[in-house]
Amino acid sequence: MAVERTLSIIKPDATRRNLTGKINARFEEAGLRIVAQKRIRLTKEQAEKFYEVHAERSFFGELVTFMISGPVVVQVLEGEDAVQRNRDIMGATNPANAAAGTIRKDFAESIEANSVHGSDSPENAASEIKFFFSKSEIVP
Ligand code: TYD
Repeated sequence: MAVERTLSIIKPDATRRNLTGKINARFEEAGLRIVAQKRIRLTKEQAEKFYEVHAERSFFGELVTFMISGPVVVQVLEGEDAVQRNRDIMGATNPANAAAGTIRKDFAESIEANSVHGSDSPENAASEIKFFFSKSEIVP
């Protein structure tokens, strides 16, 4: 299994409830290392660009509004099979469908306010990491 990196975002519903540490513990307990991290406010332009694949979906406007409604923590997670491992511990997009013990099952409020983002492929991980981080900000 290859060592990979994936882009994670702790979303505004989770930072509002002061859950950053609890969520980071889930990553570390699963063998993922947080090799870059910063707390930021996304601009509307950044949120629209980040989620541009969903631009035609009915939920797009509300999703962008939600993502700029409070601080987010953007982070790079590193570890074996990091992309899929993170997707596994995040759980399904809709917390109602998420497996027991996953981050979304335990913390998400709704399909929109679902606490975390994680890249869904190694290719998307590479471009999403570049979107937020320069090389020098990632310290393995
Ligand atoms: P998606 O890429 O399908 O899910 P995931 O985050 O699990 O990769 O959707 C991106 C985000 O869009 C999702 O985390 C929350 C939001 N969203 C909604 O608000 N409503 C919806 O019906 C869907 C499918 C997604």
